Parts: sequence; C-alpha cells; structure tokens
Amino acid sequence: MIDITENDWSTIDATEFYNLERWGLGYFELDSEGYLVANPSVDKSKSIRIFDVVNHFLKSHGAEPPVLVRFPGIIERRMHDINEAFRESIRQFEYEGSYSTIFPVKVNQHLEVVEAALKSGKKYGGGLEAGSKAELYAVLALADNDTPILCNGFKDLAVIEMALRASQLGRNVTIVIEKPNEVDLILNTSKRLNIKPKLGIRVKLSARGAGHWQSSGGARSKFGLSIPELVNCIAQLRRAECLDRVHLLHFHPGSQITNVRKIKYSIIEATRIYADLVQQGVPLKILDVGGGLAVDYTGNRNKEPSSMNYTLQEYANDVVYYVQMVCDQEGVAHPKIYSESGRALVAHHSMLIVPIVGSSQTHVQQSLVPRSDQVDEEIAPLVELSGILEELNVKNVSESFHDAQTAMEIAMQMFANGNLTLEQRAQCEALTNSICLKINSLLDELPFVPAELDELRYNLADTYFANFSLFQALPDAWALDQLFPVMPIHRMNERPTRIGILGDMTCDSDGKLDCFIGGAGQRRWLPMHQLNDRPYWIGIFLVGAYQESLSDDHNLMGKFHILTVDTDRPYEDSRLIYGSTLREVLEHVHHIWDDMRGKFAVTVEQARQERRVSYEEGEEAFRFFESMSENYTYLTDEIREIEPSQMASRVELSLGSK
Ligand SMILES: Cc1ncc(COP(=O)(O)O)c(C=O)c1O
Repeated sequence: MIDITENDWSTIDATEFYNLERWGLGYFELDSEGYLVANPSVDKSKSIRIFDVVNHFLKSHGAEPPVLVRFPGIIERRMHDINEAFRESIRQFEYEGSYSTIFPVKVNQHLEVVEAALKSGKKYGGGLEAGSKAELYAVLALADNDTPILCNGFKDLAVIEMALRASQLGRNVTIVIEKPNEVDLILNTSKRLNIKPKLGIRVKLSARGAGHWQSSGGARSKFGLSIPELVNCIAQLRRAECLDRVHLLHFHPGSQITNVRKIKYSIIEATRIYADLVQQGVPLKILDVGGGLAVDYTGNRNKEPSSMNYTLQEYANDVVYYVQMVCDQEGVAHPKIYSESGRALVAHHSMLIVPIVGSSQTHVQQSLVPRSDQVDEEIAPLVELSGILEELNVKNVSESFHDAQTAMEIAMQMFANGNLTLEQRAQCEALTNSICLKINSLLDELPFVPAELDELRYNLADTYFANFSLFQALPDAWALDQLFPVMPIHRMNERPTRIGILGDMTCDSDGKLDCFIGGAGQRRWLPMHQLNDRPYWIGIFLVGAYQESLSDDHNLMGKFHILTVDTDRPYEDSRLIYGSTLREVLEHVHHIWDDMRGKFAVTVEQARQERRVSYEEGEEAFRFFESMSENYTYLTDEIREIEPSQMASRVELSLGSK
C-alpha cells in the first residue's frame, strides 16, 4: 500500500509495484532516473527513453500527445522469440517437421505492422493470413511469391477469383475452405478460369478455449467444417479429382487461451483428424494450429482472462509434442506446423502515451465539521457521527464504518421528514466524509482489508483526467473488462503518493479506467503522483493487438497520432502519422465541411449586419473557425487546474449502497 510518510522508494519498488518486469518481459523497464525505457533491440545500448521520444516529437512537429508509439523492433523480437521457442521444441523432441508463423492481419492491419511482421518472419518462412476481401488485397500487394498467404473468412466469387488469379501469377495463396458452400464456388471458379487451386480446410473442433473469446473456437464457432461436413467435403473434392490440391488442415481454438490444457486438447483432436485424413489419401503437409497463444497483460501467470497460465516455451512444447505423439501413434509423417499467433506477435509493440490534464481530489470542507462542543444535542445522528469521529482508531475501523452508515441513513430519513435542516445535513455529511477519510488513512495498518473498506478506498481515489478516449484506445477494456498495464512513464524514482482512476475526454460515463493490474490480482485504482506544473504522462501498454482495428470515434474523438520508432535509425528520424483532424472526423460522419464553412460565413455576416460584432471581429471569428479544420480532435492545451471536488456525493455512493 502507498505510505506517503515513507521516503525510501526506488525504481526497484516502482518496478514491483506496477508488475513491470512480469508484463514487460524485458521489452520495457525503468532507467535509474525513473524514466520508462523501451528495448526494441536486445542490445541495451539501443534502449529508448519514451518520454524523450515523445517530447522530441512534440517539439519538432508542433504536435501534442496523446500519441500511439510503435516499436517495430519489438515485433521483430517477438517473432524471434516465438520461432526460437518452436525451434527449441523441435530440437528437443527430434520433431521431423518445421514451424512458421503466419500473421493474421485482422489483429492489426496498419501498414507498418504488417510490414514488420512480414519482414521479421521472412527468415523463418512466415506468411500472412487474410480474413476479408480488403485484407486479401493488402496481403497480395505486400507479399512476394515465397510468402505463404492464407485466404480465410467469408468468400464471395470476387475473393475466390482474385485468390486464384494471384496464384496463377505466382503468389503462394492457399484458399482455406471454411464453409460447405465454398467447395462448389471454388471448384466452379477454378474450372471457369482454368486455374488449379491450392487448398486448405478449416475444421471445427469440439474442444474450445476459455475466456472472453472462447466462442471463436469449439463446435458453435462461426467458421470451420463440422466433422460430417468435412467428410462430405473430402468426398466432393475426390469426385472432382481435386483432392490432390489439399495440403493444409487448419483450426482456430479461439483467441487469448489462458489455460494451457485447452491448447493440449485441441492439438490432440486436430492431429487425430489430420492423421485420419492422411490415412485416407489426402496429401496434407501442413497443420495450421490457428491463434490462441495468449498475452500475459497482468503478468500474473494465471487463468484469468487477461493473463495466461503458461509460457511461450510451454506453448511451443505442447504443440510440437502432441502433434508428434499423435502422428507417431498413427504412423503419419510429422507435418509442417503453422501458428496464426497474432496477439502474441504484436500486442507488445505499441503503447499509448496520454497526458494528464488535471485531477480532482476528494476533500472535506472543514468549516462544516462541527467541533464536539458545537454539536446540537437534539440531533441524534450528529451526536453519533461526532462521537464516531472522535473515537475512531485502528481497532474499531469496521465498526465505526457501519455505525457511520447507520447514522447517515437516519439523518437522511430525518431530512426527508423535514426534521433536519440543510445546514445540519451538511454537517452530517461533512462528519461522515471526515470519518471515511480517516478510515482510509488507517487501512494500511490493518492486517486484512475487507471488501467494503477496499471499496471505500476506490470511492476516495482521485480522478486523473487523461487526454484520450477509452473507446478509441482500449475497446476491449470497455467491452470486455480486459486489463492493460498502465503506469506513469516518468517520475518513477519518486514515490507515488496519491491513488487515482483515469477519466477520459469523452462525455460518456463509461469513459474511465478504474481497473488496473496490481500485485497478484486487480486494483480499482492506480498509484499516481501529485501533479505539479510539469507535464505528467501515463503509458497504456500492450495495445498493439486488436485495439486499433476495433476502436471507434465515439464523441468524434478520432485516431491518435502515431509515431513509429525504428531500431535501425536515430529516434529523431521517427515517422509520424498525424491523428484525426476536426474536419476529417466530421466528414467521416457525412458532414460537409464546405457547407459548414458557408453557414458559418452567413452567421458572421448576419452578426455584422446586426452590429453584434465589428467587421474585424467577424473576420477573426471566421479565420478561427477555418483554422480549426486542421486541429487535432484531442485537447491541445497545456495542463490545467481542475476544481477540487467536494467528496460528499462520492462517499454517499458507498454509504448509500446498503
Ligand atoms: C482464424 C484466426 N486465426 C488467428 C487469429 C488470431 O488469434 P490470436 O490473436 O489469438 O493469435 C484469429 C483471431 O481470432 C482467427 O480468427
């Protein structure tokens, strides 16, 4: 717990406090001056202080955070780590096949990300997976003829024809049959164009994952052939004399599989199917085990939805071991293994840097707290609350809390019945708030903090207003309560003396982050520093998978600036893509800027005619309106003070919830 009276604090404490080592995996750490650094290369001399990069980018481009910072070097490191883990398993078990990573571009379609995945996977025989028409086009343009391309997802005739024509031109495209009706579509198109397809088949397994994304695997999953459909498909392809075109079997157990046992079950089931098909004469060579390799967002190594109970090496070992075991039992050659590990490849590479623009701290208006000799003896709850405050100590914390709840409840009934004046009610609330603050300060001395008192801590936490949109940055935190690591990226050699939650800039009450990783579990608040007149920047980490592709423009808060920091050039040469402007987000929802501009000009003209403004003032207003078209959709001002809030309404929450 935070103890503001203690001075001894070092970056070692901070590393432990925010669980940095366990979710950061060495890609992120603190330097001796308390700054967070990224290690996009294993060579520590290339470490990058994130605060400095963002600061430099601010100054040189006249742009403001929030900014998404990308490190393609971290994708390269992840690609290396995943492939080396498989190499190690293959060597250890004397497996006779090989392994490659296929990047499913749905996880992050941004050009720099796909390019980094492609480039870093090249030496391992890696490839790309497309799940839609647009993704197929992107992938065909980026890949060369050696790159394996898997064409998954719903397919219309255009997708099939494009995939076939691309393979005729030399691209290494496998069309993966996901639905029974695709068999005829593919066979007919292939006949019409006289191009032989390269085929894969996706099966639905009965084994399914666990966690938020479990429905993307298992018998009820949207994609893949059921076993009867698979049998029919094979018969159909055999009749069409196309069975020799099938070289890959694919399944997807679901994303973020947190429990390694689910992975073992699905590998065993899929390999049995693979072996049976090979024994029937299907010339399969590749087993594609799909995605599912999880990311330990909390660093807690457990089966909770934002964690995982296994390591990367254990995953590779299980995949290789069980494929080998089943193939050996069935007398079938070891296949080449593909995994479509998307999240595990790109989640770590990007982070969002968010400035705090102010905070609201809870406090009690002392003038309203009556001294014991000022308390009106006739008003029972006032007498009671005053007594509780006076006698409160570490031994009677829980009891005092309950007594204060009861006294406040009686006070509210008296107020409703007209037996308590507004002034007396204010005194009751101020006393209750003082009690809550005192209880909060005693919590660290308790051997055990009961849930209701921990809730109090949450209710008393400061709100730090962060210049971002939760809906744009972390759709999975909003929709699925997924946890992401969050911590300040500087001042880490200084003890954080406050606790807070983050409120975003949208006008939506859901637009807040109040669940954080901490210790072995979760915290409803984040250790934070007292604001001063310097910028205070928070990093939200591991956002490289799915968050960018799922984000939305709620409240017309658009895309963030993106800064791509390459390992092989000085960070001053980082590439910047500007975020959304006002004009862009408005036009995205079909407002026409020129019409808006025209209407504003009419408003200015009318105001001039009605002599509300001078000619020059009108001119200035119009110029200001126009200049805003290129303005960033996030706040672009310096840090501002936010009025301290009276805590009454918030504490009422905890008292009122009996
Ligand atoms: C077919 C397929 N492959 C791969 C993936 C990527 O999964 P993950 O990000 O868990 O590796 C997905 C995502 O759900 C998928 O649907």
